[in-house]
Amino acid sequence: MQKPTVRTGIIGARFAASFHIESVHRVYGVNTEVVGVHSKTPESLNAYADKHGIKAFDDLDALLDQIDVLHVCVPPALHEEMAIRALERGVYPIVEKPLTGRFGDGSEDYDGRNDSMEVARDGALDSIKRMLEAEAASEARILYAENWVYAPTIQKEREVLEKTKGQVLWMHGEEAHSGSHSPFYGYWKHGGGGAMIGKGCHPLTAALYLKKVEGRARFGKPIRPASVTARIHALTQLPNFVDDGHIRADYFDIEDFGMTHVTFEDGTIATVFASEIVLGGVHNWLEVCATNHRTICNLNPSNQMQTYNPVESQFDDIYVVEKIGTKQGWAMTAPDEDFSHGFPQEMEAFYRTVGHGDDVESDSQLASDTIATIYSGYVSAANGGAEEPVTLL
Ligand SMILES: NC(=O)c1ccc[n+]([C@@H]2O[C@H](COP(=O)([O-])OP(=O)(O)OC[C@H]3O[C@@H](n4cnc5c(N)ncnc54)[C@H](O)[C@@H]3O)[C@@H](O)[C@H]2O)c1
Repeated sequence: MQKPTVRTGIIGARFAASFHIESVHRVYGVNTEVVGVHSKTPESLNAYADKHGIKAFDDLDALLDQIDVLHVCVPPALHEEMAIRALERGVYPIVEKPLTGRFGDGSEDYDGRNDSMEVARDGALDSIKRMLEAEAASEARILYAENWVYAPTIQKEREVLEKTKGQVLWMHGEEAHSGSHSPFYGYWKHGGGGAMIGKGCHPLTAALYLKKVEGRARFGKPIRPASVTARIHALTQLPNFVDDGHIRADYFDIEDFGMTHVTFEDGTIATVFASEIVLGGVHNWLEVCATNHRTICNLNPSNQMQTYNPVESQFDDIYVVEKIGTKQGWAMTAPDEDFSHGFPQEMEAFYRTVGHGDDVESDSQLASDTIATIYSGYVSAANGGAEEPVTLL
C-alpha cells in the first residue's frame, strides 16, 4: 500500500521544536514533508530553519495554508490560540504540554501569588472549553503531546493492565530536576503556574492515562479523577535559602515544589511530586501498585547503561543524560533518551492518526482532565491542602 504523505509545520524554534523535528524524522508509518517553521524571534527562526534545511515563515497563516499538522512548540500561554487557529483550518495541532491554563489578567506585571485560584481555575476551564469546541467544529483533532503516555515503560504497563485486568490502588511518581532552561518559565503569565503544572503534568497525565486504560479493560470506559488535595512551596524563594549555585533560583511568582494527591471516581489514588530542586539529572518515574502486580517505570534515569568517566573533559562532546550537573564519575548514561521519553513513539502515533485515522491515546479529554485536576490542585493548595472536586469537561 502507498504510504500517505503528511505535511508538517512547526511554531516555535527552540528546545521543544528541536526534539519534535528529530522525532518527525523517525516516523515510518507515513511519509513526512516538513514544510517550514514560524517563530517570533528572527534569529532563532532563521537559525532553526537553516539547521534543518526548511523554510522560515514570518506569517503563521501562510504556513497553515500548506500543512496538515502544526507542532505547537511555543510557551503554554500561546497554546490555545495556536491550536484553535490550526483547528479552524482543519490542521491537526500537536500541542505540547500543558494543554492550556490561565495566564494572569493580561497585565505585564501580573503576579500569580496575589491572584484568586478560583478565578485561575475558572479561566483554565474556559480555555479548555474553547479548545474542545474548536475541536468539535473541526475536521482535525487535538493531539496532546504528553510523551509520558508513549514512553516504553508506560506502554508496557498498559499491556500488563489490559491483559491482567488488575485494579490499580495507588500510583506514585515524580518529575524533577534542578530548574527549567526556558527564560519564559518562572512567570505565571507565561506558564500558567510553576512546578505543579510544568513538571507535575507529566506523571499526572501518565497516572490518569493508566486509570483510563484500567477502566477501558475492565468496564469499557475510563476511570476519571474525582477530587484532589495539593500543596505547593517556593523553596528557592525562602529568605533562608542557601544558594550554592547548582539550582536555578530566579523564579518570579511560581512554586518550585508541588505535591498533587488525586482520588479517582472509584476511590483509588495517585500521588505526584514535581520540583525544580533535585540535583543529579532528571528524576522521572512512576510506580504502580495494583491488586495483582506492582510495576516501577523508570523513564529517566534508568540503569540500562552506566558509564564511569574519570576525567570530565573526555566527555565534553558526549551527551550523557538530561540536566546532569557533571559528567565526571559514574553516570546513568542514556543511550537513546528520546526513545525512553517516548518522543518518537508519540510522533509515530500522531502521524498514524493523521495519515491513517488511528485512534488517539493522548487525546483532548486526557489533556483536559489533567488541567482540570491541576487547577483544582491550585485551589486546594491556596486553602492549605483542603480536598477539592475536579470538574470534568
Ligand atoms: N515534553 C517535554 O518534555 C517538554 C520539554 C520542554 C518543553 N516542553 C513544552 O514545549 C513548549 C515550548 O517550550 P520550550 O522549552 O521549547 O521553550 P523555549 O523558550 O525554548 O522556546 C519557545 C519558542 O517559542 C517562540 N515564541 C514565543 N512567543 C511566540 C509567538 N508569539 N509567536 C511565535 N513564536 C513564539 C520563541 O521564539 C521560541 O522559539 C512549552 O509548552 C513547554 O512546556 C515540553
